[in-house]
Amino acid sequence: MTNENITSVLTEKRTFAPNTDFINQANLIKKEYERLLWKSGTDFEGFWAELAEKNIFWFKKWEKILEWNEPFSKWFIDGKTNVSYNCLDRHLKDKSNKPALIWIGENKEKRNLTYRELFVEVCKFSNALLKLGVKELDRIVIYMPLIPEAVVAMLACARIGAVHNVVFGGFSKEALADRINDSKAKIVITADGGYRRGQIVPLKTNVDEALKKCSSVEKVIIAQRTKNKIEIKSDRDLWYHELISNLPADNPAKELDSEHPLFILYTSGTTGKPKGILHTTGGYLLWTTITSKWIFDLKDSDVYWCTADIGWITGHSYAVYGPLSCGATVLIYEGAPNYPDWGRFWEIIEENKVNIFYTAPTAIRAFMKTGDEWIKKYDLSSLRLLGSVGEPINPEAWMWYHKNIGKEKCPIVDTWWQTETGGILISPLPGVIVTKPGSATFPLPGIFMSVVDKNGKEVKPDEGGFLVITKPWPAMLRTIYGDDERYKQTYWKRIKNAYFTGDGARKDKEGYFWLLGRVDDVIKVSGHLLSTMEVESSLVSHPFVAEAAVVGYPHDIKGEALCAFVVLKQSANTDHHLFSEELKNHVSKEIGPVAKPDQIKFTESLPKTRSGKIMRRLLRDVASGKQTLGDTTTLEDVSVLEKLRAEEEE
Ligand code: PRX
Repeated sequence: MTNENITSVLTEKRTFAPNTDFINQANLIKKEYERLLWKSGTDFEGFWAELAEKNIFWFKKWEKILEWNEPFSKWFIDGKTNVSYNCLDRHLKDKSNKPALIWIGENKEKRNLTYRELFVEVCKFSNALLKLGVKELDRIVIYMPLIPEAVVAMLACARIGAVHNVVFGGFSKEALADRINDSKAKIVITADGGYRRGQIVPLKTNVDEALKKCSSVEKVIIAQRTKNKIEIKSDRDLWYHELISNLPADNPAKELDSEHPLFILYTSGTTGKPKGILHTTGGYLLWTTITSKWIFDLKDSDVYWCTADIGWITGHSYAVYGPLSCGATVLIYEGAPNYPDWGRFWEIIEENKVNIFYTAPTAIRAFMKTGDEWIKKYDLSSLRLLGSVGEPINPEAWMWYHKNIGKEKCPIVDTWWQTETGGILISPLPGVIVTKPGSATFPLPGIFMSVVDKNGKEVKPDEGGFLVITKPWPAMLRTIYGDDERYKQTYWKRIKNAYFTGDGARKDKEGYFWLLGRVDDVIKVSGHLLSTMEVESSLVSHPFVAEAAVVGYPHDIKGEALCAFVVLKQSANTDHHLFSEELKNHVSKEIGPVAKPDQIKFTESLPKTRSGKIMRRLLRDVASGKQTLGDTTTLEDVSVLEKLRAEEEE
């Protein structure tokens, strides 16, 4: 790990202070923010105790706030609570008839579920799971389109203490099989199909294929969505709607330990297979609840829309658990932003009078490219707050979002966090913080972060370094499922006494954090974290391919795009152009369309160090058309690089 790639060239000077109207109604105001900062600095555990008491319903109060044996933490020890209870039951008194979910289908269907209705659905489905013999701690895979049943399934697992493992519906059968096997899931909940840009995604067929390689699964539950023809295995498969009919509409939420596992969610790692990030109950619930309140400024009257799919952490924390725990009205949309046209999101905002809108820079950049006419057609005046997540938002995109969507009146919260952090750690507080386009601003109260060199020493203002977290926080991952050692090695061994995020950052002279992207071989494409290693191993699984190296290069819309350098086997006598397409499709089939390389470059050999490590840094330069400025002395054979460049120029 070196510092060499982390140079920051941004010199953004514009600032935006919160306006008085917003400040006057904000959930968190400056005085309270300052008190919280002070309290977290002077009485760390007291700070968390106060928040946990005020924001969460506990069946039994905790005995102790924190047990910290680096890198393992336990929060709210001996406290008993239930996430589903906090998201549903506690709102029934005041909000029974308030919409909890507004669901919009790709074909413009709409379903509203009030808090009472969602509660009933969750109770029924959790009764169904119990009837199938699901026990506390059993793992349940959810591989579904974004339909209300998917949210119901998550909350039903939480209600009975089963551990869900949501697998993004865009993942292939291979990726699904790996995730089922790693978590040893007992049940898979899926749908007959899902809609994506007018096509049917054959979810159930993918499950059938995946299960040929998975022995742990006893039952498959199928929600009916597309009504396409599917095969039913009578001893294994059950229809969701048949299963819940006639089941009781009540099921008391289990009183679970604060450290009871809530879910596993797989994320790409730099090396090896995907990592099963494990989150638990009390701490995760507390942090997603208060960050939703503070950052999104949720009010009872708001319609809140987070565009993320539940297959990602953003969907877990800010489309389901955080906002429902706050009693908000949450909109979820099944389809793509450009189906049937690029006006779809704005039409949804107009029709549903959305007040708070949380999306990703990759979507924002795509909208910028398609032009303003789609936006001008719709009335976006209901919006009062905008959010961004998933990758650095470049100042041009920030300004575009501010002007065209926020009409210069909505604060923008650029929220930095990770699957591992469970909830947002760096973000402006919309009624308090002066924003700078492109900066996620400051760590939230209770969160201690720093930018350091490889020895863990804080770097000077405006110098690039590694972003680390120096104190535990309640929503932190507890481990990598089934692999404590990998958890230690990945996050806690690279920088002493700190959690290493894998990101580069710099702090400016006023202490604002500027994120600089990943420092290793993980790439963010369209907001999805991909490990280069996984794409490489998929390429190499093609019989013609001898070796492959994958790197990212800057891309206008996706943020980063994938370039694959491929060495063919001698026996592979193929037309490069045709084969390039075949290889792209091969990866798309194996991992999923997000992982499909944008470019494939065939080469005779790859640049390697003497110890045999591929020098991806050099390949990144070639892919992005840059001259190599860095050190090439460790390169085993310099002519490889020259040849690569020559091939480029041909
Ligand atoms: O590199 C950072 C980037 O996304 C990574 C985490 O990805 P994932 O686990 O998929 O979670 C995404 C949704 C929380 C981080 O290590 N990232 C996320 N948000 C931002 C960001 N980079 C810059 N600015 C952000 N706001």
